[in-house]
Amino acid sequence: MGFGKKMFDAKKFVKKSLKEIKEVVGDRKVISACSGGVDSTVTTFLVHKAVGDRLMAVFIDDGLRREGEPEFVVRILKDLGIKTRSVDAKEEFFKIFHGRIDAEEKRKAFRHTFYKTLGQVAKEENIGVIAQGTIKADVIETVKGIKSQHNVLEQIGIDPLAYGYKILEPLRELFKPEVRMVGRELGLPKEISERMPFPGPALSLRVLGVVTPERVAIVRQATQIVEEETLELGTFQNFAVLHNDKATGIKNGERVYGNIITVRIVDSTDAVTAKARKVSYKILKKIAKRITEEIPSIVRCLYDITDKPPSTIEFE
Ligand code: XMP
Repeated sequence: MGFGKKMFDAKKFVKKSLKEIKEVVGDRKVISACSGGVDSTVTTFLVHKAVGDRLMAVFIDDGLRREGEPEFVVRILKDLGIKTRSVDAKEEFFKIFHGRIDAEEKRKAFRHTFYKTLGQVAKEENIGVIAQGTIKADVIETVKGIKSQHNVLEQIGIDPLAYGYKILEPLRELFKPEVRMVGRELGLPKEISERMPFPGPALSLRVLGVVTPERVAIVRQATQIVEEETLELGTFQNFAVLHNDKATGIKNGERVYGNIITVRIVDSTDAVTAKARKVSYKILKKIAKRITEEIPSIVRCLYDITDKPPSTIEFE
């Protein structure tokens, strides 16, 4: 059903999907892993529509989210009338990143901790089915071996029963524009259906090298500045990346051997290909000025002009 192959009928999809979810879940209870991104929130809402209060949304606070995100996600889910549990797993996540610098190793460590945490919640709540917002692009990139997306298991031969549950992926055949159409069809607020994509492993993909709470805090602050200064651009994704190496700079007249941030602003429809946006020099200068002035350790700010391919959207 790939986007563009034939006209996608969101109404029909929702009808078919609700029937399928009801069949798979039966009279069991289900949890939905919700990060607040478009895919997982649409999934959560769809499953809630199908099984009502037998669904519990789970927000895993891994310490890697954007500024204000944990509070935003829990509020949105509660406003939608969905039973929600927030799990503080910051310590577990930072522990597994300790000493890891390889991108794929970090991704796999994230995936393992993500499923282990969900497995614990499922056990405590006595639940055997977990819903998640995997979409077609996640599966394609993982199966091709480009990168191990955090939410792909069965498609690469890992049995989720090893973590103690069955997985439900209602959006697995859709691309991002179709997911947004489903969100609109379900009547989700615009702040969800039109939200900028944000990856499951969150800021861990944007801290090159070792992921620590201090380094995540730097990229979180830079991300907020980039988002604030690019609100009007209507681009697909806008964010900041913290480099693993350092550079020389001058602050208050003194030499500082400090951190480097790269800003990435891309246009895309389905995340399979992307173009770096030709952002005005005025906006770029403002971002660089704010990032280097407001974040003490940053001495250099770069802009990434590479398209996908040959780059990917995220750095890791
Ligand atoms: P890349 O970096 O592969 O990203 O060009 C394509 C799109 O997918 C997002 N992304 C992820 N989303 N889990 C997710 O849920 C992941 O592990 C993951 N890795 C990348 C990325 O932000 C972009 O929208």
